[in-house]
Amino acid sequence: MIMIEKKKIILTGDRPTGRLHIGHYVGSLRRRVELQNDPSFDKIFIMIADAQALTDNADNPEKLRQNVLEVTLDYLAAGLDPGKVNIFIQSAVPELTELAFYFMNLTTVSRVQRNPTVKTEIQMRNFEANIPLGFFCYPVSQAADITLFHGTVVPVGEDQKPMIELTNEIVRRFNSTYGEVLHEAQILLPDNQACMRLPGTDGKAKMSKSLGNCIYLSDPAEVVEKKIKSMYTDPTHLRVTDPGHLEGNAVFTYLDAFCRDEHFAKYWPEYNNLQELKDHYTRGGIGDMKCKMFLCKIMQEMLEPIRERRHYWEQHIPEVYDILRKGTEAARTQGRQTIEEVRAAMRINYLDDKELQKAQMEKYYPTE
Ligand code: TRP
Repeated sequence: MIMIEKKKIILTGDRPTGRLHIGHYVGSLRRRVELQNDPSFDKIFIMIADAQALTDNADNPEKLRQNVLEVTLDYLAAGLDPGKVNIFIQSAVPELTELAFYFMNLTTVSRVQRNPTVKTEIQMRNFEANIPLGFFCYPVSQAADITLFHGTVVPVGEDQKPMIELTNEIVRRFNSTYGEVLHEAQILLPDNQACMRLPGTDGKAKMSKSLGNCIYLSDPAEVVEKKIKSMYTDPTHLRVTDPGHLEGNAVFTYLDAFCRDEHFAKYWPEYNNLQELKDHYTRGGIGDMKCKMFLCKIMQEMLEPIRERRHYWEQHIPEVYDILRKGTEAARTQGRQTIEEVRAAMRINYLDDKELQKAQMEKYYPTE
């Protein structure tokens, strides 16, 4: 039996269905950029989940074809360093499909049916009685995404929690059935509630392309400013002197996600920290526009280097494809190794199993 030493390996990814926005950034991307400089991690794999995106976009592969590049550009723009992380394309690693197929035997239809994220997605897409089988199985495929790389740390948003739970159930089932080959993974959630579920600029539950309420990492400075100026705040805060409310106030949720004390020193020295500003706002006496302009300065400071790096990579598309090629090659090397371990543990590696062949030979041609 093969025992693999437990390493700290990050595996995470995104579906390439559109450009990435600031919700992706605080939800997971910012974390990945920090972690790439943490020497305690042995390897980092960032996956562009095009095969998963196909499970609900089967009739529109062109969307993914364009967005694989857009997402890669956003990754590089956000500061992921191709010297430190492997960025790869899911569909180019066939070992993932193989592992997912074996995993399908280790869970049940009713188990996947109870997955709250899948439930919501089925409703949102109006699948109801016509759920594509591939879509239904994507949580199992996601378990393969993580374990093929022996991923032990998965930085993702809260909505991915049921996927990690299922992954660990499958890992335990696999290990107890076939032997200890796979590792359980741990979810790494964003720092606070605001980062976990960044609302759209309209204050609606979640930033989402279909609601048109996103600030994209690639939005030009003027667009960012316009979007922030028209953000949803507190509809009862009509005059500056009125007391303001923080609950559901998107500007303050964004400040929770992006603002640090040093931003006050730099852009609004009347306050020492966000709590002081919040206290004043709730007492009354601060206009929304002032808060928005402060938020805007913070966002532009964060987004400007991202836009600059994106601009650089946009002028170097062939290199971007080289980065994807190299990352995918590294992912395949790891994938082939794990699949060999998996097949050996499952004892389906007949062609390489000399002992099996010898025993069978002896059954028919006893040597003694
Ligand atoms: N389900 C993730 C999303 O919708 C994308 C994804 C696919 C993923 N495979 C993964 C995330 C493995 C973490 C680990 O964003």
